[in-house]
Amino acid sequence: MTQDATVIAQMRQLIQLIAKHNHAYYVMDQPTIEDSEYDQLFHQLKALEEQYPHLQQPDTPTVKVGGQALSKFLTVTHAVPMLSLGNVFNQDDLFAFARRIEERLPNQKIEYDVELKFDGLAISLWYEHGVLVRGVTRGDGETGEDITQNVKTIRNLPKFLSPVNGVIPELLEVRGEVLMPKSGFERLNAANAAKGEKTFANPRNAAAGSLRQLDPNIAASRPLAFYAYGIAQCVPHHGQTTMSGSLEWLQQFGFAVGERHFICSSIQEVQKVYEQIIEERSKLSVEIDGMVIKVNDLKQQQKLGFLSREPRWATAYKFPAVAALTTVENIDWQVGRTGTLTPVARLNPVAVGGVTVSNVTLHNIGEIHRLDVRIGDTVSVYRSGDVIPKVEKVWPEFRPANAVEVHLPENCPVCGSPVVMPEGEALARCSGELYCAAQRIETIRHFVSRKAMDIEGLGDRWVESLLHLNLLKDVSDIYHLHEHREQLLQIEKMGEKSVQNLIDSIENSKKTTLAAFIYALGIRGVGETTARMLANTFQTLDALRSADVDALKKTPDVGDITAEWIVDFFQAPHNLEVLDRLLAAGIHWDAPIAPTRQPLNGESWVVTGTLSSMGRDEATQLLQALGARVSGSVSSKTKCVVAGEKAGSKLDKAEKLGVPVINEAQFIALMKEHGQIEE
Ligand code: IVH
Repeated sequence: MTQDATVIAQMRQLIQLIAKHNHAYYVMDQPTIEDSEYDQLFHQLKALEEQYPHLQQPDTPTVKVGGQALSKFLTVTHAVPMLSLGNVFNQDDLFAFARRIEERLPNQKIEYDVELKFDGLAISLWYEHGVLVRGVTRGDGETGEDITQNVKTIRNLPKFLSPVNGVIPELLEVRGEVLMPKSGFERLNAANAAKGEKTFANPRNAAAGSLRQLDPNIAASRPLAFYAYGIAQCVPHHGQTTMSGSLEWLQQFGFAVGERHFICSSIQEVQKVYEQIIEERSKLSVEIDGMVIKVNDLKQQQKLGFLSREPRWATAYKFPAVAALTTVENIDWQVGRTGTLTPVARLNPVAVGGVTVSNVTLHNIGEIHRLDVRIGDTVSVYRSGDVIPKVEKVWPEFRPANAVEVHLPENCPVCGSPVVMPEGEALARCSGELYCAAQRIETIRHFVSRKAMDIEGLGDRWVESLLHLNLLKDVSDIYHLHEHREQLLQIEKMGEKSVQNLIDSIENSKKTTLAAFIYALGIRGVGETTARMLANTFQTLDALRSADVDALKKTPDVGDITAEWIVDFFQAPHNLEVLDRLLAAGIHWDAPIAPTRQPLNGESWVVTGTLSSMGRDEATQLLQALGARVSGSVSSKTKCVVAGEKAGSKLDKAEKLGVPVINEAQFIALMKEHGQIEE
């Protein structure tokens, strides 16, 4: 061996030892050596690096991550899509899964590889000649985000592969899950709580929040771990013939795999293993939400293939949702922006699958009746995966004698206006609309938002202060705020400059579009797209105001219910008063392009990739102004795709389906031709 080779071998040995002890310390929470011994290893490595800086290894732990924070993550197209798994929830479903496999592989012996289903975030790792070059999130399965900087900070993840049987693959793409082991999660939350910082609801959120950080130093400070569960690509082929063999092979390279792993020779055995893991679940070092059952033989996997986005050869066997018993302390009614009254059960706080639940929505009065839930009742609350907690059932046997039945209130709990619940509707509403304070704050928030009147600077803090000073009884008062300059200046932390900025942005917002104005009114059922359709169809506010249900229903996107809501809105006298005051204040817009002049009317377009002269939002608006619908995905119905730089899978799909594609220059020429962009 040359001297260099000897030094490299020493460095690699130290790096591996340090990584092993890091894993034991940070991930398993079981330190294997004394701190002082660990420091010695570290210093030995540092000393070698100082003496031979040209041999310093790329994955050395002595170099702090220290990378610059990114301004955003880059998008990467997966070479092999990251698919999802089908689900089974009980023994019958599981056996049916096995039967489907047996039917496709008659007279063959089938062995199942049974793994933990990690409850974290799927990522893909690229190794070129043994060096970790890229880590990408699952994203939508086709494209994900490049989180290499963060991934490199995960301590138990090999950044550099040592040869196995003298071989390192030229290319290896490993799939697996990033998690925060339970012990690390508890430590992180305890430390954050002690510093008065935000704590995370569960390990999954903590892991997701850590990986989403643009500054890799934050991810580095979090106890994350990676567990491998598959190989997406390997050049040259790894030579393994089974799933379990592939996992063992990955382990030899230093990848962690699940702490439990089984090979079952029958589906009945799989069921037993599943039941056993349910029992052991709480003792595992990581959160899991089920098991993954895979056909073990890779050739059989290949024969079984895929069913749309899921493999036929694997399924997730989910654990039953976690549930807990608690009591209902009270039931409050919350009033939303559109005046909807939602009953919320205030619970005696209870931990459900690691999350403390103290409030749970009961959705509507119908649900209260269905459950027959009363104040004082004992209820079981459950949560499955990410799903919001729900009341599963009431336990009447525990009902106290003084349990209180709950009725729909006759008056709004916020403004006292009568509560209405039209025939056939499930939701009750406060009839106070723009007069109700609960609705007012939300109405104002919506009115000033970017896609509505776009009044920059009128954030929540302003709105709250203005409501407090009684300067905003309804949205039209926004346009009279300049008359109260002195009062505005008295609001804490509002200096001359911020008051002037606010008044200026209110003034600027007066010139708008009919579509944005309609959207800003916050009519129920009228989102951004519907507002645009209404503007295109009716052309003037007066025409819309006097339209009846039949006329409204001719607008694309507007059905019976929305049509009725629109009519109701324009019939309520106080809404008309506010509307008139808004127009009197000087809100105006140019006439929209008449539908006859909308050459792309009804066509479905897709914008993808990066455009150099404008954002995708702007391109979308230009297309919509010409009547096109802009969709997020390409299908055979797509009329045309506008492809900017680095257009990925959508461009490929368009080409595959024979959908016409134009580039940015052609798009701009088209917009000029239709007068959307000035020549
Ligand atoms: S194998 C073709 N194995 O579950 C897909 N997935 O619901 C093969 N997951 O997105 C996936 N633990 O992130 C596999 N042991 C395991 C897993 C696992 C967790 C996740 C994975 C996937 C999701 C599908």
